[in-house]
Amino acid sequence: GLKVATIGGGSSYTPELIEGFIKRYHELPIRELWLVDIEAGREKLEIVGDLARRMVEKAGVPMEIHFTMDRRKALKDASFVTTQMRVGLLDARIKDERIPLQMGLIGQETNGAGGLFKALRTIPVLLEIAEEMQELCPEAWLINFTNPAGMVTEALLRYSSHKKVIGVCNVPFNMHLSISKMLGVEMNRVHIDFAGLNHMVFGLHVYLDDQEITNRVLEMLGDPEIQMTMKNVAPLPWNPRFLKSLGVVPCPYHRYYYKTSNILNEEMEAFKSGKTRAEIVKKLEEGLFELYKDKDLDVKPPQLEQRGGAYYSDAACNVISSIYNDKKDIQVLNVQNKGSISDIEYDSAVEVSCIVTKNGPIPLTMGRLPIQINGLVQQIKSFERIGAEAAVAGSYDKALLALTINPLIPSDDLAEKVLQELLKAHKEYLPQF
Ligand code: G6P
Ligand code: MN
Repeated sequence: GLKVATIGGGSSYTPELIEGFIKRYHELPIRELWLVDIEAGREKLEIVGDLARRMVEKAGVPMEIHFTMDRRKALKDASFVTTQMRVGLLDARIKDERIPLQMGLIGQETNGAGGLFKALRTIPVLLEIAEEMQELCPEAWLINFTNPAGMVTEALLRYSSHKKVIGVCNVPFNMHLSISKMLGVEMNRVHIDFAGLNHMVFGLHVYLDDQEITNRVLEMLGDPEIQMTMKNVAPLPWNPRFLKSLGVVPCPYHRYYYKTSNILNEEMEAFKSGKTRAEIVKKLEEGLFELYKDKDLDVKPPQLEQRGGAYYSDAACNVISSIYNDKKDIQVLNVQNKGSISDIEYDSAVEVSCIVTKNGPIPLTMGRLPIQINGLVQQIKSFERIGAEAAVAGSYDKALLALTINPLIPSDDLAEKVLQELLKAHKEYLPQF
């Protein structure tokens, strides 16, 4: 029987994943789902695990839900392993957001200084999991959602002996969905060539049926009424003339780079009132767990859609199902470039449209990146590579280098200041430093 292990199983997002597996049970008959967490997460794991059991029972699906603190037992002979843990929990995210903001820098969980520190905490743990997989389930695919998914995938591809690794994000799926809605057509009539990096991905070309409509889409996105974004990124409208000259569709996260001062103003307001995204999410999560405890609840509650990760299960379950069923459909994934984007090294991680086969995703050939986006993508790729190196080596100098070359950090001295503060704040989760 098909066995799946989910590390960080006590996450408030787990019902999203369970719903995805239930919906696909006819094509992806998972016999055993193992939810794994650490001792500190036991209570959450039990609450979510019980809800998961009620959900499958209500759906009439014969999927066994196990929950355990014994990761090795969960990994043994698994076919797919999904990872969604948050090292240091939301309190660490609050620090990632608030400490840079104290110094007038963007404070965000996957971009800038906060993003680097989330990676420094996460990468060693994921490398450990990947090595255990190599021993206990060497044929299994590791499907990672833990952020920053780009830097994490880069680190796994370079430093782990387990190479069956895929990074997943809901941003491309959400862009595809919003653009289809905006056009008032079914998603399957819209095709988008995606290329770039995680949270730095562009729609290079958009097609409706067989016709390219990229310019029309850019015009629509320039309408201040239409603010394609995610729940966690402020819906600041784009400058329509800028969008037109950019010529490719930016993702919601590009606001951090192309609207830096506007975003910083928004974040400063949130910082002052104790409502940074992490602080809002912490409250949302407390409310979600209260709901999950209710023994009458046996479906995913709609309140979960307040989270930025809405639809992430579709992204995750689709890739698992396409590998299992050799579907050869197109999905946007974080994988080794292998020449797909010719401006990026062969062995680096990219986020790109892929054909998903039983042997895994095959990135489609995207050619060169347009000159107007190539510079920024290269700069972030350098940040990801050096950041991944810093995480593995525990190197202060590499971390300083990564921060200083990041476009969201405007000075070497400020980079060092934020580095020192964050190292102090996250000490217990950074044993390599
Ligand atoms: C988006 C991103 C995810 C991220 C999430 C944050 O969906 O793609 O990578 O984890 O937003 O949402 P949150 O509700 O935690 O702020
Ligand atoms: Mn994401």
